[in-house]
Amino acid sequence: MEKRSYPAVYRIVHWAIAVSFVLLIITIFLRSTWMNKYNVAAIIQDQLANTEQHVSEDQAIALAKMIRQPMWDWHIYTGYVLTGLFALRFMLPVFGRMKFQDPMEKGLSRITKFRMWTYLIFYVLVMVSLVTGLLIVWGPKEWKEPLEQVHLLGIYYVLAFIAVHLAGVLKAEFTDGKGIVSRIVSGSDNTEQ
Ligand code: HEM
Repeated sequence: MEKRSYPAVYRIVHWAIAVSFVLLIITIFLRSTWMNKYNVAAIIQDQLANTEQHVSEDQAIALAKMIRQPMWDWHIYTGYVLTGLFALRFMLPVFGRMKFQDPMEKGLSRITKFRMWTYLIFYVLVMVSLVTGLLIVWGPKEWKEPLEQVHLLGIYYVLAFIAVHLAGVLKAEFTDGKGIVSRIVSGSDNTEQ
């Protein structure tokens, strides 16, 4: 693997995108586990039943959603941040920074082509998630349900990308790309010392 250097702007954008995805994953994880509306609704109903009070399932779910909302707001804020970061990432090549590599370029090794395609496909899928997310919040109400169906599939490609990405980086670190992790963190490669 060729020893690329990662300028500060590349590293800042990379880590800002990576942290945003981790935050998104945490919010999705909380929504589908501890803060799941059905679990929280059941707790509300059980607790009230202990004092002989009753709320319908629909009322308990409405309360559960209200409890969850401040946590879920962070999903939406992070979505806006990511939209800004992606706008920046796509603008940078115009200024000669963080240029996209063409996977069709002649002479590239199979593994480099695979890497380039992985990034391109990931970027296209992220665009779909960002556009559907923005339309869920800002678009017409009738579109909400079909958009949500598409939007919630996003978690699968994100997890698949992270697994492939980390495996690729670790493979490079321990074979022909020694120092890659140092270079994406600090910009310098201490294997040359
Ligand atoms: C410990 C965690 C991570 C490490 C060590 C790491 C490392 C790297 C490295 C070394 C590159 C450059 C690879 C190359 O030259 O082709 C890279 C690129 C990239 N990483 Fe990560 N990464 C991490 C986490 C993430 C996460 C969580 C995401 C997003 C979900 C992410 C998204 C990307 C993207 C999209 C690129 C391509 C950037 C571009 O050139 O357009 N990374 N990463």
